[in-house]
Amino acid sequence: MCGIIGYIGERNAREVILEGLKKLEYRGYDSAGISIISKNSLKTVKKVGRIKELEKDKKVKDLFGKIGIGHTRWATHGKPSEKNSHPHLDCKKKIAIVHNGIIENYQSLKKLLISEKHKFNSDTDSEIISHLIEKFYEDNLEEAVIKALRLLEGTFGLAVISKDKEEVIAAKRGSPLVIGIGKNEKIISSDVAAVLKYTDKVIYLKDDEVAVVHKKTVLIRKINGQKVDPKIHKIKWDIKSMEKGRFKHFMLKEIFEQPETIRNALRGRLSRSKIKILDEKNVRDIKRIILTACGTSWHSALIGKYLIERIAKIPVEVDYASEFRYRKPLILEGDLLVAISQSGETADTLAAIREAKKLGASTMGIVNVVGSTISREVDFGIYLHAGPETGVASTKAFTSQVTALLLFSLFLAQTRSIRIPCKTISELKKLPKKVKDVLKNSKKIREISKSFKDSKNFLYFGRGINFPVALEGALKLKEISYIHAEGYPAAEMKHGPIALIDKEMPVVFVATKSELSKKIVSNIEEVKSRGGRIIIITNPKNKELKKFAEYVIEVPSTDEAISPIINVIALQLLAYHIADLKNLDVDKPRNLAKSVTVE
Ligand code: M6R
Repeated sequence: MCGIIGYIGERNAREVILEGLKKLEYRGYDSAGISIISKNSLKTVKKVGRIKELEKDKKVKDLFGKIGIGHTRWATHGKPSEKNSHPHLDCKKKIAIVHNGIIENYQSLKKLLISEKHKFNSDTDSEIISHLIEKFYEDNLEEAVIKALRLLEGTFGLAVISKDKEEVIAAKRGSPLVIGIGKNEKIISSDVAAVLKYTDKVIYLKDDEVAVVHKKTVLIRKINGQKVDPKIHKIKWDIKSMEKGRFKHFMLKEIFEQPETIRNALRGRLSRSKIKILDEKNVRDIKRIILTACGTSWHSALIGKYLIERIAKIPVEVDYASEFRYRKPLILEGDLLVAISQSGETADTLAAIREAKKLGASTMGIVNVVGSTISREVDFGIYLHAGPETGVASTKAFTSQVTALLLFSLFLAQTRSIRIPCKTISELKKLPKKVKDVLKNSKKIREISKSFKDSKNFLYFGRGINFPVALEGALKLKEISYIHAEGYPAAEMKHGPIALIDKEMPVVFVATKSELSKKIVSNIEEVKSRGGRIIIITNPKNKELKKFAEYVIEVPSTDEAISPIINVIALQLLAYHIADLKNLDVDKPRNLAKSVTVE
């Protein structure tokens, strides 16, 4: 999704902004632009395509100034083009704005502005903001921005500059914005990743706050004029965790980080057989849990349902956040809504939290990005501590989410004096080592991938707690390799998908040891007899299945409750190697954004 960067300080703003835009690339974009104030003149350059192209442009190389803003755009209103990319200017080319979010009433405001002789250059909703500011601007930029914002309906993360002012105005409603606090410089961004190189101190703007940012000061007030005393947070992420290091792609690096990220999710939370993850008072009276999320995080929610119901005996519902928010859900006394999100910024998940709160549920977050909007809006929560996830396809966040959900289930059982399964605890302690062992399969999986890279379709089957793993395996493959893939519970095969099986169809079975593993054998036989190309993920001892498979990927045996974490890693590697062998841009797949901040 779109990214914002702004700078005021003593460095060459162009360099900070281009660097920042590169850090925002992983979020997905189709065009980019930059505006710099230089000797009282405002210069703007925009380009469709990659930041590299923008950087090479002679007009960009000539930019020099100490104040500027930049943007990566992910088209919503108006197709990707130079005129639609940001920054957007006013008629006199004095003011420049970059905007994330959607202005819902832009059409009526545009009509009004056109009737007042404003000339528009783009098809975007965002451009009305620069014209509205122009309409209200006399000599106080902050006042003009506030007057403009009061007319807007919808969401915005916004940075504004004017050629006659040594300041950047930043504002937010529903779209994230942070201000990095350097000594004689400030960096404004929609993503903390773009700020970390310069400072680890940040202010998270809250909804309806407007900041006047000078190189030495930040003054914040609410749109209603009320003064705000901002809190400065210290970010613990290490800048190195944002670099690829020896890996070809961030996705591969993040897959290989999983022994460590799972260890981080467990750290301090599992001592002997006691779980310490939340304050007991938050969960004592829960009668039902609603897990809500999108995409990969929704798959971890499906696993969470198995875990919580089985271990803690509390009924669980799982909802796509986008459906929950609109389906007029019934919230009962004792309901807890748990929102799961890597980024902590997903618009639908955030809206589900707000809806649940309105209806009287208590809310909890399972979130990776510290200080993100979701983490701040829920009543309480669990951080994943997986570090920054840059690859658009989520990997390490997923296994950390499942680890956190497992700890949460055990904690709930503990608070209700339900016996905690000893095998699960002892296997949890061995998990980082076992994850390392799965990773040893990477070379072998690359070899297997060679014979599937030209496949057009894939089916994934799993049962019980590994059914969501089949869904996740299919999602990973389609996201980065553009091969059509579907996941199903294996028993559903006969109810439709079996019609697709012929000798061209690769079929992946997640068939590690479980209560239901015997039942999956007949599904495998059915695929075999129709000539399907079978890949089986199973444990070393499971000899019986191997005779059916064209390829077997062996993963370490563990407790069934933990098996999704181990099994999914094999599928992450399969998706990664197939996409890489197809020479695709694994970290930035087409049309996808890392953090989906619009509906
Ligand atoms: O940041 P979130 O976990 O809330 O994101 C949810 C989905 O957008 C995300 O998982 C998406 O499906 C990924 N591309 C999956 O790889």
